[in-house]
Amino acid sequence: MYLIFDSVEQVSRFTAQRIFNKIVEKPTSVLGLATGGTMEPVYQELIALLKANNSNLSQLITFNLDEYVGLPPSHEQSYNYYMHHHLFDHIAIDDAQVHLPNGVAADLNTESKNYSQAILEAGGLDLQLLGVGGNGHIGFNEPNTAFNAPTHVVELSVQTRIDNARFFTQLDEVPTHAITMGMHDILQAKEILFVATGAHKAEIVQAIYANEPTERIPASAIKNHPNAIIVLDSAAASLLPETAQQHARVNAQML
Ligand code: GLP
Repeated sequence: MYLIFDSVEQVSRFTAQRIFNKIVEKPTSVLGLATGGTMEPVYQELIALLKANNSNLSQLITFNLDEYVGLPPSHEQSYNYYMHHHLFDHIAIDDAQVHLPNGVAADLNTESKNYSQAILEAGGLDLQLLGVGGNGHIGFNEPNTAFNAPTHVVELSVQTRIDNARFFTQLDEVPTHAITMGMHDILQAKEILFVATGAHKAEIVQAIYANEPTERIPASAIKNHPNAIIVLDSAAASLLPETAQQHARVNAQML
């Protein structure tokens, strides 16, 4: 299902509300979390909701999608740092409840295997939040990753490193490898919330819309998922056919 909102603010409010509702409905939820600029306003809204409702998060479990290889949690561009800075430090959640792949593990293959296993042992993901890279990657599953891949180490594509270079001082500081939850782990989530905002996401959103699920475009896999919502702002949706846009447009007043 596609939902198109007028603004990033409305997208973020809707997305945060869905996550909040899931936590209320099932306090033991296992949430799959994402990083990136798209998620920053989502987490701001979520923090506000959790605070306003004095939510008890003591049974919540989270698993993040990915982490750069070689960046320790103290590194400002590590996803561990991002998650603490943008979410965990602002809500009542213990480090024992949150999981990110360890990008500085001595044995990254064992770390990967254990990560997929830990998701299974937690009961699987109830809700997975997803952003998308310019080339269609989800997590760091780059184009042509098998849809049945478990958590694994990936060599980042040049485009992904260029896309993410804005967070670093220069391109050669962007790690060359990452550890990512696999397509299989992601697709096993009971519910998926896929979020894309901004005109720079319009082409990849159009490609997802126009193609049957294909490993060439990892994000297209969610079209096969029985319970996925694709949440867009009007800029990200701008290259979709006019009729599709009309059909998916949400009157935010009605929310
Ligand atoms: C990184 C992350 C992805 C994220 C993507 C988009 O590459 N590994 O999980 O979806 O960035 O980021 P942004 O929201 O900044 O466009």
